[in-house]
This record gives sequence, structure tokens and C-alpha cells, in this order.
Amino acid sequence: MNAGGQPANRTPLLAGNWKMHKTVAEARSFVARLLPQLPDRGAIEVGLCPPFLGLRAVAEAAAGSGVKLYAQNMHHAQEGAFTGEVSAPMLVEAGVDGVILGHSERRAYFGESDRELQLKVPAALQAGLMPILCVGETEEERDRGDTERRLRHQVQEDLHLVDSERLSEVVIAYEPVWAIGTGRVASTEQCDEAMSFIRALVGDRCKEQAELTRILYGGSVNAENAAELLALPDVDGALVGGASLDPYSFAAIAAAAVR
Ligand code: PGA
Repeated sequence: MNAGGQPANRTPLLAGNWKMHKTVAEARSFVARLLPQLPDRGAIEVGLCPPFLGLRAVAEAAAGSGVKLYAQNMHHAQEGAFTGEVSAPMLVEAGVDGVILGHSERRAYFGESDRELQLKVPAALQAGLMPILCVGETEEERDRGDTERRLRHQVQEDLHLVDSERLSEVVIAYEPVWAIGTGRVASTEQCDEAMSFIRALVGDRCKEQAELTRILYGGSVNAENAAELLALPDVDGALVGGASLDPYSFAAIAAAAVR
């Protein structure tokens, strides 16, 4: 175990999901301001998730810094008649290291289904991209006592076509929908429960892989609450939305992640 409580082989990961924010010029200026602020990142992985058009610019601006680059979505096919979509090989060519899949905004506003995610997750792995698979319950589901049912369905369905021996290459982000962009953060107990439940679900497929799988928390993480959340033993990092838009607050969260 390292100082943060994670086994040494689960390097904490901090990813900033910009969603549909920042032009190319804004992305460049963000990276220029972020890099000098970042703590020595030996012990953690830090990545940015700009919109598609900003990927190249961030790759160039962050070159040599060790900051990773993740996309926010991709199509499962390599190419084809899928107007408006982007494939894994295109992302790899642009210098991308990984991809967020199944974010709740994509599920809610763009009808992204577990069936599609079942194809996307292995397609990302096959292309050499690290999938960051988002799962999480709505407030209604939590109130009805359906949190575990929802998490079980998402984790089992979305990972169904991933070979058991590759499960730990998928990062899972637990993002309760009611905590995203609302300023409401899951309590320590809620987080603990959900994280260990998710790890147990992966463990149903393969115990060894479950121990190696990184599980992030996402939902209203900011510079003030990051240290407490990231200290939880099953939390292997954070997926940050709003607070990742400002280089100083994102750097402060990165500092909280380093111990
Ligand atoms: P938030 O978003 O940090 O703004 O709540 C998190 C996310 O959607 O990944």
C-alpha cells in the first residue's frame, strides 16, 4: 500500500473532463497555465479530456509533460458511415491515451446505451486506448433503493465483452448522477459502499483483476473536498468536471491527490 491507501500498483488517476468547454485557443492557454502549477506527479497520473477539436492542441501544448490526453467519447467501429462520429484509430492518431465512455450526460442526453458501451469498451482496448467507463445511479434510483441494481447492470453489461484478463485495463468512474455539477458530493459512506460494490462486481469475473482495477469518484469534486475523498481506501482518483476548467483549481486538486 502507498501513503494514500491504494495498493502500489493502482496509481491514482486524476482526469479533468472539460465537457463542451474551451476553444482551441483557450485549451492552449489552459495548458500553459496548468503545467507550472502541477505538483511533481511521480505518484499520480494526471489527464485532460478536451472536446475532440481541442485534442491535438492539448497534445502539442502538453508534449513532454507527462500529462495524459483522454477523449470524451468514441464510436465502436473503426470507420464507416456514421455521420458525426469519431473512431478509436482517429483518436490514437491524434495522440490520445484514453477515452471516457458512458458518461451520464451521454447516456441521458444522447441515448447512449449499455449495448453500445458493450462494444465501445473492448474497441477502445483493442486500439490501445484506456477506457474510463462511467457508471452511477440517479437520485430517483438511490431513493428507491435501486443503486446496487443500477451499478450491477451497468458494470456487468458494459464489461461483458472485455476479456477477463484485461479487466483491470478499464478504469471505472463511479459518478452518482445527482452529484454531477450540483455541488452535492457523495458521503464517505456512500462512496465506500459504491466503490467496494463495484470492485466486488469486477471480482465476480476475476478476483486478481478486481484488485488491480482503478475506480475513480466523480461528482462535484473541488479543491476543498478532494483531499478527503481521495484519502478513501477504495478511491483510486477522481474524474473532475467543473473544477477542471480552471488551471489553478485543477492543480490544487492534483496537489491534494499527491501524498
Ligand atoms: P462535476 O462533473 O465535477 O462538474 O460534478 C463530473 C463529471 O461529470 O465527470
